[in-house]
Amino acid sequence: MNITELKTPGYELVVKAQDEASGLHAIIAVHNTNLGPAVGGTRLYLYASEEEALTDALRLSKGMTYKSALAGLSFGGGKAVIICDPANKGPQLLIAYAKFVDSLKGKYICAEDMNTTSADMEVIRTITPFVAGLERDGGDPSPFTALGVYSCIEATAKKLGIPMTGLRVAVQGIGAVGRRLIEHLVEAGCTVYVADRNGHKVNEVIEALGVKGVHPDEVLFTECDILAPCAMGAVLNDTTISKLKCKAVVGAANNQLAEPRHARRLQDLDILYAPDYLVNAGGITNVAIERQMGGYNMKDAVMAARGIGQRLLDLYAYAEEHNLTTAEAADRMAEQRFSKKGK
Ligand code: NAI
Repeated sequence: MNITELKTPGYELVVKAQDEASGLHAIIAVHNTNLGPAVGGTRLYLYASEEEALTDALRLSKGMTYKSALAGLSFGGGKAVIICDPANKGPQLLIAYAKFVDSLKGKYICAEDMNTTSADMEVIRTITPFVAGLERDGGDPSPFTALGVYSCIEATAKKLGIPMTGLRVAVQGIGAVGRRLIEHLVEAGCTVYVADRNGHKVNEVIEALGVKGVHPDEVLFTECDILAPCAMGAVLNDTTISKLKCKAVVGAANNQLAEPRHARRLQDLDILYAPDYLVNAGGITNVAIERQMGGYNMKDAVMAARGIGQRLLDLYAYAEEHNLTTAEAADRMAEQRFSKKGK
């Protein structure tokens, strides 16, 4: 295997591996390890070019530094991308990738991401200990992500002074996270509106949980207390923001703001925005529990995910105190933490 360093300003380490025998072509980006080893998923995708893959790895690894720092974890930020058609993923490729991860001697700990699974992490574990999200431990992070989102909705309702019973929540996307979130909300007595591009998912959840279906093109504009985007990014943009009819946005989807300036626009309209990378940190807190002394413990993982709501309340208070948007406050709080070693 040929491993080469790609010197990148602002990043601690960026390395590329190419291995003819297995077909591995991968990049690992370590953004910052001031708080601890860089943890982040392994994204497997048929990128159009190595440049596109590198851009993704750099963007995502930096995002992980901010996410872990804001969640109060002793992790840095990293991400791996494997340039490969998902149809060609096999044990040989995963083993070669595991050797690549192992060569960094724990500076980067990999986990699952797009087109990789906890079963793949088990294969990687046969070669290297520097892997999280194993089936035997925390496994699929989605239930913890959903619980974290739920705790943030609870916290935001408290901030708005609205009781959970009867709180109106519109959920966009009934996937691994959205489906669990809807269950939590129904259990708490909320009035829940749901939408998904897949009509079968909508019918199933209406039948099972008695929620109200909304057209996927309309869900963002549903009259409600809290909008929970749990499908895709960039949903808060120039076209959508002026049409929102919610008091707050609290959801799992990554990169909900199309551009940073949209946070100010939301604030001007008196819509409270819960920064997505804090709200969806339940998966990474679950990884932290896996790596704690004494090993994985489900109770601790549940407590950690539930604790994200209080972090959000602290963030709202910080933003108000410093006259910042909630998005600016999130970045500043994260930067203050990870810019100092070992805090
Ligand atoms: P998923 O792929 O299981 O579900 C996404 C759902 O959204 C699918 O049912 C899809 O049909 C639906 N959808 C897509 N476009 C839509 C649209 N325009 N309108 C309505 N529905 C639409 O994804 P998952 O795992 O539930 O994640 C949801 C979001 O949360 C993603 O943005 C993901 O990046 C983010 N996230 C997920 C984490 C996890 O632990 N799964 C962790 C952190 C972030």
